[in-house]
Amino acid sequence: MTLFQSATELKDNEYEKISRLVYEQCGICLHEGKKDLVKARLGKRLREGGFKSFLDYYKYVTTKDGTEELITMIDSISTNVTYFFREEKHFQKMTTLLPELAREKEKKGRTEAIRIWTAGCSTGEEPYSVAMSLSECLKDRQTPFHITATDISTRVLQTATQGVYPADKVKGVPPPLMKRYFQYGTGTSDGQVRIKREIRDRIAFERFNLMDIPRFSHPFDIIFCRNVMIYFDKSTQSAVVKRFYDVLQPSGHLFIGHSETLTGLDHQFHYVQPSIYRK
Ligand SMILES: C[S@@+](CC[C@H](N)C(=O)[O-])C[C@H]1O[C@@H](n2cnc3c(N)ncnc32)[C@H](O)[C@@H]1O
Repeated sequence: MTLFQSATELKDNEYEKISRLVYEQCGICLHEGKKDLVKARLGKRLREGGFKSFLDYYKYVTTKDGTEELITMIDSISTNVTYFFREEKHFQKMTTLLPELAREKEKKGRTEAIRIWTAGCSTGEEPYSVAMSLSECLKDRQTPFHITATDISTRVLQTATQGVYPADKVKGVPPPLMKRYFQYGTGTSDGQVRIKREIRDRIAFERFNLMDIPRFSHPFDIIFCRNVMIYFDKSTQSAVVKRFYDVLQPSGHLFIGHSETLTGLDHQFHYVQPSIYRK
């Protein structure tokens, strides 16, 4: 924006309309405190698309022609902060569950895989951390594993699929894992690292809106949905948690963020320890 362009005003009724639309589309509750953030992020979209007002923009994204822009709008509003081995205790706990899970799978047959869903995977650091942990833990066993990683944002999924990160993003990864599972860029890719194919191939990334009913081909043994439901209200959280319950194997585990809880929600899970639940 040049010095002479003034930012378009975001009127209260426009903010209300946009907030309602975001809530209906993806469950994210935009409180009054988010108004400046929405104004800044969508203001950029308004300028780029030549829209005169937020109302014009709102009208466009609610038409059939505006479907693509609606996805971009949700992309630009959602919070995507994540990092490798975030909330490390979850990875420790998960690895304690794996030997028993692997034994159960082996009893059923050689091709029976451990299946994990990371829901709201953002730019991929979470599913890759899960995949590296599984690869380490299962290296002396036959059990295959498969990870489904989903997010509503197409922008973050693009990064996730490529598995390329600036080197300073991998500081939390233990050096032995860096050595085994990352390639260091050279030339024009200097300063970047890439997850090796053997790990990338374990993960299927796809766009999925947690407001929808999951239709995956297999039930999951473990679901990670961390730091996602924090943006939803209680009734949306209850609905999402019920859908997780339905797609988990009996005794399957649900991991939510350390600052999240199922307390106060209508659910059937058994409490294991803070932020971990079992079907
Ligand atoms: C803060 S990130 C959390 C990433 C990762 N799980 C972690 O804990 O580091 C939240 C992610 O949830 C996604 N998200 C928000 N609403 C969603 C919805 N309705 N369906 C699917 N993903 C959603 C956002 O796009 C964002 O990438």
